[in-house]
Amino acid sequence: MTQYILALDQGTTSSRAIVFDRQGRIRRTAQKEFPQLFPRPGWVEHDPQEIWSTQIGVAQEAISGAGLKASDLAAIGITNQRETVVVWDRATGEPVYNAIVWQDRRTAPLCDTLKAQGHEDLIRERTGLLIDAYFSGTKIGWILDHVPGARARAERGELACGTIDSWLVYRLTGGALHITDASNASRTLLFNIHTGAWDDDLLALLNVPRALLPEVRASSEVYGETAEGLLGARVKIAGMAGDQQAATFGQVCLERGMAKNTYGTGCFMLMNTAGEVVESRNRLLSTVVWQLGAGAQAQRTYALEGSVFVAGAVVQWLRDGLGIIRHASEVEALAGSVPDSGGVFLVPAFVGLGAPYWDPYARGTMVGLTRGTTSAHIARAALDSVAFQAAELLDAMEQDSGARLTELRVDGGASGNNLMMQFQADILGVTVTRPQVTETTALGAAFLAGLAVGFWSGTDELRTLWKADRSFEPGLDADRRAHLLGRWRRAVERSRAWAEA
Ligand code: G3P
Repeated sequence: MTQYILALDQGTTSSRAIVFDRQGRIRRTAQKEFPQLFPRPGWVEHDPQEIWSTQIGVAQEAISGAGLKASDLAAIGITNQRETVVVWDRATGEPVYNAIVWQDRRTAPLCDTLKAQGHEDLIRERTGLLIDAYFSGTKIGWILDHVPGARARAERGELACGTIDSWLVYRLTGGALHITDASNASRTLLFNIHTGAWDDDLLALLNVPRALLPEVRASSEVYGETAEGLLGARVKIAGMAGDQQAATFGQVCLERGMAKNTYGTGCFMLMNTAGEVVESRNRLLSTVVWQLGAGAQAQRTYALEGSVFVAGAVVQWLRDGLGIIRHASEVEALAGSVPDSGGVFLVPAFVGLGAPYWDPYARGTMVGLTRGTTSAHIARAALDSVAFQAAELLDAMEQDSGARLTELRVDGGASGNNLMMQFQADILGVTVTRPQVTETTALGAAFLAGLAVGFWSGTDELRTLWKADRSFEPGLDADRRAHLLGRWRRAVERSRAWAEA
């Protein structure tokens, strides 16, 4: 009997593969970083072939490292960095350009034009999103307009495009499937989240030919099998979701009002709003969190989302940009060597600001420096900045949903940092709970795939698999919290509208 599920987690800075057992425990992990390409200021690209080769490489490594064969796997689930797009030739599978990454700001001027033309309401109504360079739609248009001949080829149906889930499934199935799931589709600016279909008005507005787009499927269903010879045996591909949506599933935030925050490259807070698309008054996004069931049985669940572009990446910057730590793991000790940031506030708006500001022209700022400021204060301010950004998201979310959160579930790399998690609880005024398995993104993809093939019996069984590791209780009085948040907001104001268009 097949005893395992393989999750492929294609993230912004690395490709990972994790083998999970029936209890939702990690049996084996393999991970490989790949290069980040910054061809111009504000541009971020990945080589799609590197994405594929690292991803298939770690998949093979995880299977063999666990002492397994592909035939021991009940299914594969896929989760991925969202919004990042690839356009490729349907006949050869060759990408026509690098993947344009979600952090890339090159289409900000086009977004300004769309806003000035008054399209924001239509886009918000149909997609739940705002007009921002973050999402896929304008990036696809950019590739078609800048790669010689691409638009004509796209119109003739010779090209395919997709987010990273589509690209991986295409490669995994040897080009047999060109599909995406509703959670990934909902990040493109082209997908109507109410009807669950590509929207002709939006395709026309962003000048994207329909022939380019993948078929939209459920997040949990058997889509097909891996190509012959790829993994040693053909394995069912049975789950797909964007990484933040997958993490919400992995945290079993299955009831309305439950929320999670994932600390990865960025930091993304999602609150389940069940079958309702909540319209944010605070510039949060509404998004499909997953779709279970296909065709007439399709059931879409939605979430409110706050997206912060730089979280874990601020620690990378301390390491690679400032050189004040050698390894990311040193940050907790350095930041913990001072009692607080000594009045320093660091706003890591390196690629602009996401929710709730959506300012592509904001840039990083540090205020409050004195002669007494040390690298430890800066490290502390960097960690604080992640918690402050999350606090602004939660505030907006509580206002939009009208619900007061009692617990925030956290995951991702930085959730292992106790100092930061305690400050997070303090500044939120809410209990912060970390699960035993913090790889909830991959776990969510495994859950989605496992449900589709009957490896797990249903969501009730999944609930029993989630176990808390540690809770952090808020310990700061309300006045102090309000004071610190007020200072943070003043620092944010100083970072706004700095970059030149
Ligand atoms: O929306 C971007 C997000 O999906 C990227 O996640 O974990 O790669 O920072 P991560």
